[in-house]
Amino acid sequence: MSGERHSEAPEAGPVAGFLAGDGRGRIPGSLPVISWREEDEHAFLDDLERCADSTIELSRRGVWHGHWAELSPAAVGLDLRAELSDHAALHLCWNDARPIVLPGILDDAIHRAPDEIAEAFELYGELGEDGGLKRWLKRALPAAGPEWRVRDRRADLFDAERDVEKVFVSRETAGRELRDLWWKSGRLSTFEGDDSLRLRISFGLERDDDASREPARQRAVATLAEAVLPGASFVPEEPSLNRMLEILAGEELFLTQHIAYWNAPEGGALFHHDAFDEPTEGGQRGVLYAQLAGRTAWLALSVEDLALRVSEFVELLREGELEWVTEDLFPRSADLDGAVECARDRERLVRELALPGCGRFAGLVNRGPEFTDFLANAGHAAILEAGDVILLPNYGLARTVMHSVFCADDEPTYAISAALRQARPDVRTDLQAALSRGRGKRKSNGNQSRRSTRRRD
Ligand SMILES: [Fe+2]
Repeated sequence: MSGERHSEAPEAGPVAGFLAGDGRGRIPGSLPVISWREEDEHAFLDDLERCADSTIELSRRGVWHGHWAELSPAAVGLDLRAELSDHAALHLCWNDARPIVLPGILDDAIHRAPDEIAEAFELYGELGEDGGLKRWLKRALPAAGPEWRVRDRRADLFDAERDVEKVFVSRETAGRELRDLWWKSGRLSTFEGDDSLRLRISFGLERDDDASREPARQRAVATLAEAVLPGASFVPEEPSLNRMLEILAGEELFLTQHIAYWNAPEGGALFHHDAFDEPTEGGQRGVLYAQLAGRTAWLALSVEDLALRVSEFVELLREGELEWVTEDLFPRSADLDGAVECARDRERLVRELALPGCGRFAGLVNRGPEFTDFLANAGHAAILEAGDVILLPNYGLARTVMHSVFCADDEPTYAISAALRQARPDVRTDLQAALSRGRGKRKSNGNQSRRSTRRRD
């Protein structure tokens, strides 16, 4: 694949020619990213050095995923401001469940509150200690108001390998008590060299209630996260971001079920989506990820676009390219035949990719450096700096953003993600909820539960 980039547009530099290549896209709001190898032609590498603002080397859980160069907008004639002013085009991206980057939209918030970023890293250290989550909550909760209490209820860990600590909290207002709200700290992987951590707030039963539409607990955990989680108030307090969300989604949204991420070197997330198997109407509208310190590198594209790229890549393998990849991923010829058959049926392929871990294509989509290189050079990569936000809209399993994350820093980074939900669910949704309650088939108290194929990662 790296060899493909050298034959185009002789009148322009090789990098400009490569960017103008057929089929290459770019995530709106992001700078172009090109994956390169040391063995690429000198003329290309020299031009890349001239055009690049920065380069990173990607490694996740001991697997090398290559080098990326992020290009300067001036060097490639890109006007991001104009692109981000074209709300109609961005709205179409949102509707197609394609990712959108909002560069630097939280810069001012971060500069106004450097103490919160420092607190985030103090919390990272504390979460790594025995009982650190409960100690932090006992100290932090009073700032949220007297209605909040840390409960002594014992909490089983859902994921014995990665979960670190889970603590229930309660909120009592106007005689009504919510008792099954919880925080959970955990590792992102079991890889020994990965010191990444995450801290999640939610409620009810894990997995069963992840997609719950119940507003009382959604709002309660949002209120608590914004009161005590460092940096969580930046998004709701940034008018330009809220305005942009409303324009893109066509309705007012709010953030809930926050997750703080400290992606550390070798950390990140394998390819996944954050959607639920639920009716579109009244469902989750997507996820917002705000980078608040350090850098992360992303592959992000709609599930339909990922299906297209997987089918292109599988055809390359079928034609005999990258035989070492075929030997690793599809050691028997029947395995490759099965993958080709599935990849040629687009609807079936989308369903397969929406399975937990991307189903039979888990090895392929997470394959570095070859598939990572392929996706980055097709224009599906972005690098997030502190202050940047990436939006991952979704409308259920068949219309969602698939994404894969890498740490792009030498130190742990900090980010917050949150689910986006309708601020004013419409009448029909309320009616559906009432009908669902009437059937009495809920899995937990007061919740219109939706089956989740995976929890947010
Ligand atoms: Fe995610």
